[in-house]
Amino acid sequence: MSTTKPVRKAVIPVAGLGTRFLPVTKAMPKEMLPVVDKPAIQYVVEEAVSVGLSDILMITGRNKRALEDHFDRVPSLEATLEEKGDEKKLAAIQESSNLGDIHYVRQGDPNGLGHAVLCAERHVGDEPFAVLLGDDLIDERDELLGEMIRVQQATGGSVVALMEVPAEAISAYGCADVTPVEGESYVQVHGLVEKPAPEDAPSNLAIIGRYVLHPAVFEVLKETGPGRGGEIQLTDALQTLAKREGEGGGVYGVVFRGRRYDTGDKLSYLKAVVTLACGREEFGDDLRSWLRDFVADGAGVPASAGA
Ligand code: UTP
Repeated sequence: MSTTKPVRKAVIPVAGLGTRFLPVTKAMPKEMLPVVDKPAIQYVVEEAVSVGLSDILMITGRNKRALEDHFDRVPSLEATLEEKGDEKKLAAIQESSNLGDIHYVRQGDPNGLGHAVLCAERHVGDEPFAVLLGDDLIDERDELLGEMIRVQQATGGSVVALMEVPAEAISAYGCADVTPVEGESYVQVHGLVEKPAPEDAPSNLAIIGRYVLHPAVFEVLKETGPGRGGEIQLTDALQTLAKREGEGGGVYGVVFRGRRYDTGDKLSYLKAVVTLACGREEFGDDLRSWLRDFVADGAGVPASAGA
């Protein structure tokens, strides 16, 4: 029997240690890093709100203060901008405090993504819900989450977002073993492996940071022991659900072919910022032309590189 409850809530885990991005993540979550002129997390919240998920729960850690402040109002700053008549900046700061209804819960110990999702159980209750990872940005011109919600409603199971990656890159991701579903645009997931070696990977389909989950995942997570890296892995719980028949069972995949920007490590983050900045109307042309000259001049190449 498929669940008919609609998807209304989004869960955004932001409690990870962000070790790949130290030292900047020492006192600040990586989701607060600026991507052009907004923190990465704001793009993710906007994406959730754009598909009607205005009830948002963030799973935070010890450094939650900056996140809460960003989505809160700052009356003194608003008053100053109002006095100056700076409507544009006023609108920009008000935008982030008017996005949906944001709640926070703390993950005492960052014990893995699965453990972070389990912290959402009380808030989510017995409804299917979306999970969006704050270091994966999906271009607002490309659709993903809306389609995943439709697949969840049609199948009654859980849905993961998949993307083709080069074979040698699969060991950085969870990987899915899938078969097509006749007459449908989505695939059935039979198995999931967290960060496999390329020779052990069942496909080149990587799990990216969007999920629409059946609430049965909570009971499964409670029984899921530590997996890779000693952490409670969401992938392991989904593997159990993929094998389950009946209520809450079944995992499906939506293969995303749009634009995705990874902000979780230093090099991908820099590429994401440059790509998105080049697309900005107000300075994209200037930036592209500067980049062309910068590269043509060989500027910025460390002196040792040519030695
Ligand atoms: P990552 O796998 O990117 O882990 O988590 P991380 O710890 O943040 O980063 P590195 O690998 O040490 O650099 C994916 C998402 O899950 C959240 C992270 O905040 C990120 O958005 N997460 C991860 C939690 O909320 N809690 C955890 O215990 C682990």
